[in-house]
Amino acid sequence: MENAKKGNPEREWFGARRVGADEKTRLVRGVFDSVADKYDLMNDLMSGGLHRLWKDRFVRMIRPRPEWHYLDVAGGTGDIAFRIKKAAGPKSPIAVFDLNPEMLRVGRTRAIDRGWVDGFDWIQGNAESLPFADDAFDVYTIAFGLRNVTHIDTALAEAHRVLKPGGRFFCLEFSRVDEPFLAKIYDAWSFRAIPHIGHVIAKDRDSYQYLVESIKKFPPQAELARRMGLAGFKNCRFTNLSFGAVAIHQGLKT
Ligand SMILES: C[S@@+](CC[C@H](N)C(=O)[O-])C[C@H]1O[C@@H](n2cnc3c(N)ncnc32)[C@H](O)[C@@H]1O
Repeated sequence: MENAKKGNPEREWFGARRVGADEKTRLVRGVFDSVADKYDLMNDLMSGGLHRLWKDRFVRMIRPRPEWHYLDVAGGTGDIAFRIKKAAGPKSPIAVFDLNPEMLRVGRTRAIDRGWVDGFDWIQGNAESLPFADDAFDVYTIAFGLRNVTHIDTALAEAHRVLKPGGRFFCLEFSRVDEPFLAKIYDAWSFRAIPHIGHVIAKDRDSYQYLVESIKKFPPQAELARRMGLAGFKNCRFTNLSFGAVAIHQGLKT
């Protein structure tokens, strides 16, 4: 925890705007209140459907087993939890945890639409202070969530605390494109097209402007792996997808 207190350099950045740390958490919550109902459609439009492939790959890397306990933090509308459930089977308990009650409401409705009433716990709260015992889970996942958390190092320390020894941490997040020409195209798409699509479809340019700006403030691949190590994880490594537009980080609690 000591390292976590010293860290968190992004805590005052709400996208490109400097705000207080408390205000940042409140603003992030407001963004997802606003986008919850259009969230799934917008993901398809913004990524051309690619987010589905990234999430499939993410869950394949976990190699889910039925006897494990899963915690999906920033679980939102359930995309990762549903994939884990499909792969691990109906008996595996999955806690879906999110700051935003609206995102969880949409997620719970989607689960019911799929006939999944049991096997999920939908819990509201902040990734920085998880309401779970030490050593409780075999797998901790966070997909497109960590960059929205105000105190990233604190959330990493909490992830480490709630995992059992031998438990694994997995993070799927936007990262840095490693090819300069593609990076330019990617920047043009994110900064021009995405806020515009947000304006037309979700009637909310500002929230999508925040989403693209927050990607720039998030630590690059090697830096995040280093900070996972400071939180106590071993064997920290990452896999780039789509030339690094997205990366999967994983670490082990020993
Ligand atoms: C981009 S969505 C990702 C949802 C889902 N994991 C997915 O991949 O589709 C980000 C989610 O992070 C949640 N979030 C933001 N800050 C959080 C925090 N401090 N603690 C827990 N959840 C948080 C938001 O409410 C939102 O549901």
